[in-house]
Amino acid sequence: MNSRRAALASVLALLAPSVAAARQGLDFDVYRETVEPIFIRSRGDFRPPDPGNPACVMCHTWQTNTRLALETLEEDADGGVFWTEDQSRRNFEAVSRLVAPGDPDNSRLLRKPLAAPAGGTPSHTGGKFWTSRDDPEWQAIAAWVRAASGPAPAEGEVDYAFFRACVQPIFINAVPGSLPCTECHTEGGSAFLQGIPDGRAVWTEEESRRNFEIVTRLIAPGFPAQSRLLMHPLHPDGGGDYAHNGVRRWMSRDDPEWRMLAAWVRGERAGADCRR
Ligand code: HEC
Ligand code: HEC
Repeated sequence: MNSRRAALASVLALLAPSVAAARQGLDFDVYRETVEPIFIRSRGDFRPPDPGNPACVMCHTWQTNTRLALETLEEDADGGVFWTEDQSRRNFEAVSRLVAPGDPDNSRLLRKPLAAPAGGTPSHTGGKFWTSRDDPEWQAIAAWVRAASGPAPAEGEVDYAFFRACVQPIFINAVPGSLPCTECHTEGGSAFLQGIPDGRAVWTEEESRRNFEIVTRLIAPGFPAQSRLLMHPLHPDGGGDYAHNGVRRWMSRDDPEWRMLAAWVRGERAGADCRR
């Protein structure tokens, strides 16, 4: 009985992502035609002393420390490589989880290989492949992401009162053995919070509004797992991002604080009552 239940659970786990991707409006055919070839593309441009950028699949079909886990390629008689449709569908599910439908700028897939000054992440072990968003590859993937009917972060989709009363305290209160978010995020390149002047413990209404405006750019309303605010400080074992300066606020998505934030991002929490 237990093993049957386990088998069923694993079947459901396999089915769930494809349902999720479809619900987000990401198109599989467009993905297969325009996005997937980018992963295989040989870049054989070895410009000394730069070793050149190898194809994404050189790392992403076997590296285990990344969620961009692509299927192993098949080889045809002529030595060409390809993915079967089944394999492409599995790739599609994995890749879909790395984008925020409708919002290319908040999509990990588009930020990782993009140079940091152009809006990319600070680092990518595989290197930076696109110097700007004008790169045709960036544009092709962005078109696929943009066409999805997913949530464009818009004010009003998440509740401000709940943010002020229940979300903001998380930024101020450190968990044991850790620093509060405000310690690192009120100035510099990764600032998303207003500074609190000495002698005051909390933000004013005006500062809270400003915080709300900026923090809502770090979330994808409706999609906690695609919200940087929730994924960045989450431990990788819990599915979180791999780099965050060593700061791990939540070990897993079962953390009550993480679940509260997720419910807020999904639009399920409103008002100043933090209990429940
Ligand atoms: C030389 C190896 C290498 C190459 C080539 C490479 N990557 Fe990566 N990539 C990594 C590693 C290792 C990680 C995980 C560590 C990190 O985040 O830097 C990663 C992480 C990522 C992530 C984040 C995935 C996650 O778990 O959130 C994305 C997206 C990504 N790569 C996209 C690409 C794309 C697209 C290409 C090709 C244009 C590419 N990479 C080429 C090694 C590589
Ligand atoms: C010790 C300093 C430090 C603390 C404490 C810290 N962070 Fe960070 N955080 C960073 C640095 C540095 C970066 C930029 C580099 C990176 O992405 O890892 C960053 C990046 C981020 C990002 C990504 C921002 C973006 O624009 O992509 C988010 C979201 C984030 N932190 C959330 C938090 C939250 C929430 C807390 C508190 C629970 C927190 N951080 C605590 C140092 C810190």
